[in-house]
Amino acid sequence: MGSRIVSTGRAVPPTCISNRDLERRLDTSHEWICSRTGIIRRHVLRDGESLVDFAAEASRQALQRAGMEAGDLDAIVAGTVSSEYAFPSFACQVQRALGAPTVPALDVAAACSGFVYALAVADGIMRAGDWRRALVVGADALSTMVNWRDRSTAVLFGDGAGAVVMVSEPGPRGVLKSILRSSGEMWDLLSVRATGQRGAIDAASVRDPRDAIQMRGPELFRIAVKSMEDVTREVAEGAGVSLNDISLVVPHQANLRIINAMMERLGIDQEKVFTNIDRYGNTSAASVPIALDEAVEANRLQSNDLVLINACGGGLTWGANLVRW
Ligand code: UT7
Repeated sequence: MGSRIVSTGRAVPPTCISNRDLERRLDTSHEWICSRTGIIRRHVLRDGESLVDFAAEASRQALQRAGMEAGDLDAIVAGTVSSEYAFPSFACQVQRALGAPTVPALDVAAACSGFVYALAVADGIMRAGDWRRALVVGADALSTMVNWRDRSTAVLFGDGAGAVVMVSEPGPRGVLKSILRSSGEMWDLLSVRATGQRGAIDAASVRDPRDAIQMRGPELFRIAVKSMEDVTREVAEGAGVSLNDISLVVPHQANLRIINAMMERLGIDQEKVFTNIDRYGNTSAASVPIALDEAVEANRLQSNDLVLINACGGGLTWGANLVRW
């Protein structure tokens, strides 16, 4: 018995910041940001807004499209590193917002790979037979963790949430295989201290630079391309499918150049990749489920299509899921 994604949803904060807006705050330019990352604008949380509200909105959409109510769920799994509380978990906060019953609700912390990890965890438990219907959420608000005076990170991140409903189902459709990898050895390529403090773009105080996101961008760039390439080959081989059979790649949206380089190395036609980084920036664990939801909306995903999802992020963590849609 496998698990199949039956519906998707997404929600982002209303505040949208363009590269031109950032030009007025930082020593940067639209041309630099666009050519180096592919980002044109991003949605960011304002001071006082809660990411949980957007995660709940994305979840309600997914539930409604699945023809379900929160009461039908057997579990909630959230991929996130942005909970405002050390506890309760983000998933428990979403549970409360949805009015879901006393089912297990848990977080999976894998930074930008959070959704890939959460999907694999939910699929594994569903295969074991314990859950029949699960809500898997990817949500992050890394814009609240940057130093808004550091141009090398402040321009990259956006905030938001995506959600999918998974149902256990016999047959050929669903998650075929997932592969997860991590290397604590490389933790310092991308990290942020857990302080509990937020530093939204409009916050009165600037986040202490020592507590803001630290990133060794160029090194991470090379590792992201290679790790996402390798894990994609591994998951396809493990599932016994050829890369040529993949209909759509939905990668984590960290940098358009990373995505293009990965696709080139895999030898998969660039037309088979879904990107939306231009409008969202890097939304960490939210990027894949937001992209899945947009891909559904754009009619890019048909029944029985072979879909490849992959990501790389802080930890380091990386991984891939191969899905028969
Ligand atoms: O989601 C998790 C995974 N995340 C990633 O994988 C991110 C991976 N890394 C990247 O995407 C890229 O490394 C960045 C987009 C972060 C940076 O791009 P880059 O092409 O690697 O630039 P760089 O860091 O090598 O910097 C090149 C130049 C530097 O100036 P000099 O030393 O050549 O004079 C930087 O100071 O660009 C400068 N620079 C900027 N200039 C204008 C850095 N940030 C900016 C900026 N605006 N925002």
